[in-house]
Amino acid sequence: MLTIKNPRELTSILNRDRDQGKRIGFVPTMGYLHEGHLSLIRSARKENGIVVVSIFVNPIQFGPYEDFKRYPRNLKMDQRLLKQARVDYLFAPSTNSIYPKGFRGFIDPGPLARYLCGPKRPGHFRGVATVVNRLFRIIQPDRAYFGAKDYQQAKIIEDMIRKFRLPIQMKICPIVREKNGLAISSRNQYLSKKERIRARSIYRSLTEARKQIRLGEQRAERIKKIIRQILLNYVDKVDYIEIVNPKTCAPIEQVKSSALLAVACYLGSTRLIDNLLVKR
Ligand code: PAF
Repeated sequence: MLTIKNPRELTSILNRDRDQGKRIGFVPTMGYLHEGHLSLIRSARKENGIVVVSIFVNPIQFGPYEDFKRYPRNLKMDQRLLKQARVDYLFAPSTNSIYPKGFRGFIDPGPLARYLCGPKRPGHFRGVATVVNRLFRIIQPDRAYFGAKDYQQAKIIEDMIRKFRLPIQMKICPIVREKNGLAISSRNQYLSKKERIRARSIYRSLTEARKQIRLGEQRAERIKKIIRQILLNYVDKVDYIEIVNPKTCAPIEQVKSSALLAVACYLGSTRLIDNLLVKR
């Protein structure tokens, strides 16, 4: 595996690979890799001749009081995992090479960012759309792999691909969970042992809501109440509980055909998100 820092160097290497008829699969990450990332990489490995993984902790997607500085980083450990996963290129750019002086290519994340995490994390999705667009321009992948845990992020990127008519196939891969249901995330490592146990309630609240939907409950307010009642016993603060249209991320009042149940909450100072797509 080659680790490349310079965007131009990566673009020219990938141009050569493309000229040889190889398809390029791309997995963007912020590093501190876990089983969730590895499952994306495995899908990319199966479907493409070349696999590129980026590691870049993108400063502009963090709010002023968020965890940019303490976000976990361990490049050596990541490189080991990527080699084992038979990744071809690790792209680990500097902040200056992604955002050169005078950078103005900010991307509006569009209407999907109005809901869920959008209002709670102002500027976050603008930062995500901007960096992913920048990475797409450098790598020009045939396929890009995102996890469904960040469902809204994936939908925003899908929308951006459509809007800019980028020739990229978007792959949204299932959430990877621990045996107890907790969605795997780099931020789980902030949790104490006790918080980690309490965090299981997030998935439990979502599956209980799904059970009630399957038993016939359609009213979003009732479904949110079921989730809230479970969460309030275990988490320190509920940031939001929403029942939304999976296409637009806009809240719905009745679950008719399908719905996304989405939750954001705090355990201590750690903010976790999770979701469940439910079809009736
Ligand atoms: O999901 C993430 O890790 C990040 O938001 C992403 C897509 C790598 C952009 O920085």
